[in-house]
Amino acid sequence: MRVLVVGSGGREHALIKAIKKSERVDYIACCPGNGGISYDAECFNVGATDINGVVKLAKDIAADFVVVAPDDPLVDGMVDALNAEGFKTFGPNKAAAIIEGSKVFSKNLMLKYGIPTAEYKVFDKPEDVIEYIKEKNEFPTVIKADGLALGKGVIIPETLEEAIAGVKEIMEDKIFGASGNNVVVEEFLTGPEVSVLAFTDGKCVKPMVSSMDHKRALDGDRGLNTGGMGTVSPNPYYTGEVAKECMEKIFLPTIEAMNKEGRTFKGCLYFGLMITPKGPKVIEYNCRFGDPETQVVLPRLKTDIMDIFEAINNETLSELSIEWDERASACVIMASGGYPKSYPKGLEIKGLSDGQLDGVTVYHAGTALKEGKLVTAGGRVLGVTALGDTLKEALEKSYEAVKKIEFENAHYRKDIGKRALEA
Ligand code: AMP
Ligand code: GLY
Repeated sequence: MRVLVVGSGGREHALIKAIKKSERVDYIACCPGNGGISYDAECFNVGATDINGVVKLAKDIAADFVVVAPDDPLVDGMVDALNAEGFKTFGPNKAAAIIEGSKVFSKNLMLKYGIPTAEYKVFDKPEDVIEYIKEKNEFPTVIKADGLALGKGVIIPETLEEAIAGVKEIMEDKIFGASGNNVVVEEFLTGPEVSVLAFTDGKCVKPMVSSMDHKRALDGDRGLNTGGMGTVSPNPYYTGEVAKECMEKIFLPTIEAMNKEGRTFKGCLYFGLMITPKGPKVIEYNCRFGDPETQVVLPRLKTDIMDIFEAINNETLSELSIEWDERASACVIMASGGYPKSYPKGLEIKGLSDGQLDGVTVYHAGTALKEGKLVTAGGRVLGVTALGDTLKEALEKSYEAVKKIEFENAHYRKDIGKRALEA
């Protein structure tokens, strides 16, 4: 099989490493990919949101299967365009990807089908939002831009002043463009967060092993929100009992709700959950693999990932048994100094050989090859993943490796997994 993976980050690298293990695959391409990915796949300079470009590339390289990994092309209908040309794909079509593409859609879906989530209200006028927040007078409150916003469309104001400033940025200054035409204001929930990625063919749903992300830039969950600074798997807050409740009240009802809406979801559905005192609730849905969750989940996958992708394509997922490694895994992200604000690029990365290091797997998120040398090329640069018999062991291995990798002003959190170890 010849497989094309669309995207360019650590998640895509983890997908490619998993696909590479498949005995059915003899060629992997990636667009646009990155420096580190080019050790594992042939990279093509076609943008991940360039639908026509990707369809043409799939034809040029005679791809048998195309995996669309990022949110934007999924929400824009890249899978539909590929299917129209006869390509087999992994990822939801446009109608189903709206579950991530519009928070208003996903909140209304959950309300309609009784899926537990934070209470909310939808607004299209900034003055109405402010009046509502003033009247409610409950802080912190949560304000979310309706559409995609590079993971930055959520603000959690502690005061009315902060809320007013945030609403102005989203709805008037339009810092996220049309994504801010509507906003959702919702109740602030508390409790540990759990990420559950699930395979689904629209008929059955098979959750993967659980994980925990660390979204803030600094230790102790301080600093700005980022794409994710590290992950661990499993997530100890996701007990067997919680898993059962999630399956009954969240996972199956969501799949059924999407079917009833005529938006059958096929691919990886990401459940961002909060385990509140009143039980698990949905914080967000994503229509794709999480980043950096994928970097701890897929290393534990024992089943051939192409068998899973084929089964989803053929709607025979229920017949497939998916096996997982019992070991724990941990991923520490090494980011450019300054991230998630501005940061330099092009700094030489030292300590790796062909992009890798013994004992761990290094997933490349933002790297480039310049005159044969690996250099930084993004905010998140590397994700260093290790497996261990215990989470503690996995974390130790991962941090030991991180210390051997160098680039100027590299920033990483020192407390990835701390909350999980304390559970
Ligand atoms: P999202 O982009 O929807 O995942 O939101 C980003 C982060 O904001 C989440 O991971 C949570 O930590 C936080 N968050 C979102 N919604 C809520 C909520 N209703 N209550 C508390 N925290 C929230
Ligand atoms: N790690 C969160 C996300 O992929 O959206």
